[in-house]
Amino acid sequence: MSEQSFRTLGEFIIDKQEDFKYSTGELSRLLSAIRLASKMVNREVNKAGISNILGQVGSTNIQGEDQQKLDVLANNIFINSLSQREVVCGIASEENDEFIEIKASENAHMSKYVVLMDPLDGSSNIDVNVSVGTIFSIYRRVTKPGSPVQLEDFLQKGQHQIAAGYIIYGSSTMIVYTTGNGVNGFTLDPSLGTFYLSHPDIKFPTKGNIYSINEGNYSKFPQGVKDYIKYCQEEKEDRPYTSRYIGSLVADFHRNLLKGGIYIYPSTANSPNGKLRLLYECNPMAFLAEQAGGKASDGFKRILDISPKELHQRVPFFCGSASMVTQAEECMKNAIDTKL
Ligand code: AHG
Ligand code: MN
Ligand code: MN
Repeated sequence: MSEQSFRTLGEFIIDKQEDFKYSTGELSRLLSAIRLASKMVNREVNKAGISNILGQVGSTNIQGEDQQKLDVLANNIFINSLSQREVVCGIASEENDEFIEIKASENAHMSKYVVLMDPLDGSSNIDVNVSVGTIFSIYRRVTKPGSPVQLEDFLQKGQHQIAAGYIIYGSSTMIVYTTGNGVNGFTLDPSLGTFYLSHPDIKFPTKGNIYSINEGNYSKFPQGVKDYIKYCQEEKEDRPYTSRYIGSLVADFHRNLLKGGIYIYPSTANSPNGKLRLLYECNPMAFLAEQAGGKASDGFKRILDISPKELHQRVPFFCGSASMVTQAEECMKNAIDTKL
């Protein structure tokens, strides 16, 4: 075992606290709450097949308790972990229509952070033992500390994120996150229940040979995306690229981050804004991508520059190795230019 793998996530969080000027340890406590919740979700994901939490809500277990679908369960675990430790003043989740205000208990200091999350990403894969994940994004509130949190605290441009990351519940469980100083990955040793630094300072290969897109929707794609797919499949230089699509953004992103590749969920004829959510999925992944030297775009402009208008806003998403995203943007632009 290399020396590096003896560094735990807990130690890393505390060491990195010094990177923040005037740090009060609040962000460290928040990241620790996420770490704990991720271990609890990991436990549930691993026993999903035997604990009757697959499929639909509405069933009752042997003790007569209501069963929860895994995405509802993951949502509750993260909300409880974050709210009971009083490390955030508000939470917005893909699973909740409205944001949740967290009131500090008497005498407790109200946190200055809000968290936005997709508690279980790729949930359609859970019933078939394919990797799923959790995505989180952290901002400093913009309204007055101590007052009730407001919608504008959540509707910030992605470039203002303080931290973002994901947990992948895969063949091993990992947490990969950034606080704006690069990206680091930690692998859970399930026998000890401890995350160890396994992937320090992860960098997106500038170029890869993987493209990830749901080609079943091909006929509904914009011309620029069709042209890019054709480019990927051409027999030229280092092409054709290989096609890999899991259907869990976290897992597709994670593979492309380590191996080099591009993930695309474009607009389609039926969904002009695509499928993925700007605040819970695209912004955190875009922050991670840029911190790892990659790129994230809506096909024309940088994801992190978009001003959100509503919590559950969707956006087309092109993300991955920098030169591949640039090439896809070229195709998008050329398709429009040739139409004019
Ligand atoms: P979620 O499970 O949080 O709803 O997200 C699913 C998302 C994303 O993870 C994945 O890449 C994409 O939906 C797959 O969509 P298609 O089945 O349309 O390809
Ligand atoms: Mn998702
Ligand atoms: Mn989800």
